Amino acid sequence: MSVEIRAYRPADRDDVARVCLRTGASGGDATGWYSDDTLLPDVAALPHLEYAPDLALVVDDGKHAIGYLIGVADTAAFIEWWRREWVPVIAARHPAPGAPTAHAPQISEALLLEVGRQPELMRIAELDAYPAQLHINLLPTLRGQGFGRRLVDLYRAALAARGVPALHLGIDPSNVGARAFYDRLGFHELPSSTPHHPLFGIATTP
Ligand SMILES: CC(C)(COP(=O)(O)OP(=O)(O)OC[C@H]1O[C@@H](n2cnc3c(N)ncnc32)[C@H](O)[C@@H]1OP(=O)(O)O)[C@@H](O)C(=O)NCCC(=O)NCCS
Repeated sequence: MSVEIRAYRPADRDDVARVCLRTGASGGDATGWYSDDTLLPDVAALPHLEYAPDLALVVDDGKHAIGYLIGVADTAAFIEWWRREWVPVIAARHPAPGAPTAHAPQISEALLLEVGRQPELMRIAELDAYPAQLHINLLPTLRGQGFGRRLVDLYRAALAARGVPALHLGIDPSNVGARAFYDRLGFHELPSSTPHHPLFGIATTP
């Protein structure tokens, strides 16, 4: 079975949401971690797909998208859009925190809801210099084969072609594998990074 990277299509939306959920616990399966399994993708993947489908990439195994990279070129503009268009979606789909589950996720349900309702939390100090952002999630069978590196290379090239100078991302502090990956790719820690909210950045051109 051939596995290929290709541009996102609207028909991939449910697959992307599934991968988001199944990799949302620091790379592990977050199914059942929150009171509603749709909450994580509704905050961490679907707004990016809705706002910037043209920047999204998927890894296709011939049947499904089993990995993805999503991002936006201009986080400040994305915050404005999210406030106007996506906060009402979150409010309608997730009006209040649900009953606690048996899990204690690193990112609590309350914090996830706060991020959904307050996109301004994405406004990092270095936003002018690092306006773009990215999120990358691969199912376990796909990892360690160079797909992550190739996805980031393609995304950086797409941003450079649009004149975007640099991008940033935040990682869950417990996700040591992701940190090692970004270190290896040449990302550097940003000045406003803290142990609770590690932030990394990289230019779009080498
Ligand atoms: C983190 C992730 C995107 C990396 O993608 P990947 O396809 O497995 O990584 P690659 O195979 O492209 O590896 C690229 C380089 O990073 C290194 N690397 C990747 N994962 C690593 C890890 N866990 N520990 C140490 N090094 C790692 C590789 O050795 C490789 O180095 P090389 O190219 O110099 O040989 C992927 O493992 C993943 O989706 N994890 C779960 C979701 C997640 O944590 N996403 C990040 C949230 S911020």
